[in-house]
Amino acid sequence: MRRILVTGGAGFLGSHLCERLLREGHDVLCVDNYFTGRKSNIAHLLGNPRFEALRHDVTIPLYVEVDEIYNLACPASPIHYQLDPVQTTKTSVHGAINMLGLAKRVKARIFHASTSEVYGDPQRHPQTEDYWGNVNPIGVRSCYDEGKRCAETLFFDYYRQHRVRIKVARIFNTYGPRMHPNDGRVVSNFVVQALRHEPITIYGEGSQTRCFCYVDDQIDGWMRLMGTPDDVTGPINLGNPQETTILELARTIIDLTGSHSPLIWKTLPSDDPRRRRPDISLAEEVLGWRPRVSLKEGLLKTIEYFDALLRTDTLPTEPERPAVAEVRPRAGRTFGEVAAQIAPPVPVVAVPPARGKDGTRVRSAPASELLRPEAGPA
Ligand SMILES: NC(=O)c1ccc[n+]([C@@H]2O[C@H](COP(=O)([O-])OP(=O)(O)OC[C@H]3O[C@@H](n4cnc5c(N)ncnc54)[C@H](O)[C@@H]3O)[C@@H](O)[C@H]2O)c1
Repeated sequence: MRRILVTGGAGFLGSHLCERLLREGHDVLCVDNYFTGRKSNIAHLLGNPRFEALRHDVTIPLYVEVDEIYNLACPASPIHYQLDPVQTTKTSVHGAINMLGLAKRVKARIFHASTSEVYGDPQRHPQTEDYWGNVNPIGVRSCYDEGKRCAETLFFDYYRQHRVRIKVARIFNTYGPRMHPNDGRVVSNFVVQALRHEPITIYGEGSQTRCFCYVDDQIDGWMRLMGTPDDVTGPINLGNPQETTILELARTIIDLTGSHSPLIWKTLPSDDPRRRRPDISLAEEVLGWRPRVSLKEGLLKTIEYFDALLRTDTLPTEPERPAVAEVRPRAGRTFGEVAAQIAPPVPVVAVPPARGKDGTRVRSAPASELLRPEAGPA
């Protein structure tokens, strides 16, 4: 039996992880600020004497005695992480510093939920762990992508400098029951739209591909990674290499739900990757892991969950703002503003600095001009 801290434990993946750790006989401390996580995700665990839930924001240091840490806290969907992008970066970066500091102090082994977004809009397919990525450092997704990249840097610096035992997983699209129904992620979006017989929105032509890993497979990969010897640090890709176009996904979900939903088409959001597929050779070799649940099987379980949720009529609408954001004088944009910006996109162009007649640079362009929206759909 180990004492295990799970940050972001009330979220989609975190709640499944807490369940699995309890099943394996461990003591679990779930820490969450409930920004995108929900108490209902962990309500069924509260009666277990080995489970404890603590409302806490990981941007603030935490002092507890544990043997292992799973660092998951971070909103994962664009609608949520763009709601307060500064807080998103802080969650990734300050959260990593706080959890690594804790791991160092109590000599805990620490897992980090990194992401395939560290590859950005990849120019290599499929992505292997040695690919450094193609990330826009100033785009609207950067708070997440660069936050996660910086967190990886911190993990490896704590490993090299302080010998902290780290395990870094690069997680590719994962889906399943307890995904947030309003988070704009493609599986939850399509399932909810299909169950309500509402139009299903396809961005671009729908030919962009994604790979979808069922939650149980994903958690199994994490457990295997955490159980490896100390010299296995990652980063290691965990995802399902089976590629599906967004259009195929929509049609499969319509079939499985027996929906009458029509398809409607919208402009592709900015920085949206065209293709994303993990190379999982390393996970196969080091962890003996590969996904086992087929897309159809996983979708059926997910549909069953959302169907039950829609019947209860208790769908959450917007995430609560984190407590630390509430006290700031100006805490980002509203949920509606973010959702409106995500589609259609507002591309930005860099304005070159002003130059004199001889071509020398005479002044810096004012900050307001450095990034200005291109003429385009409002
Ligand atoms: N689901 C995926 O497909 C996917 C893919 C790549 C990476 N990941 C990573 O896995 C982790 C879990 O993702 P998820 O899909 O379960 O998302 P989620 O939004 O359901 O879970 C994130 C959890 O972190 C909590 N949280 C956010 N900010 C916090 C803060 N400052 N302090 C404490 N708690 C905070 C949220 O309330 C939520 O419970 C995230 O780090 C995410 O980046 C997920």
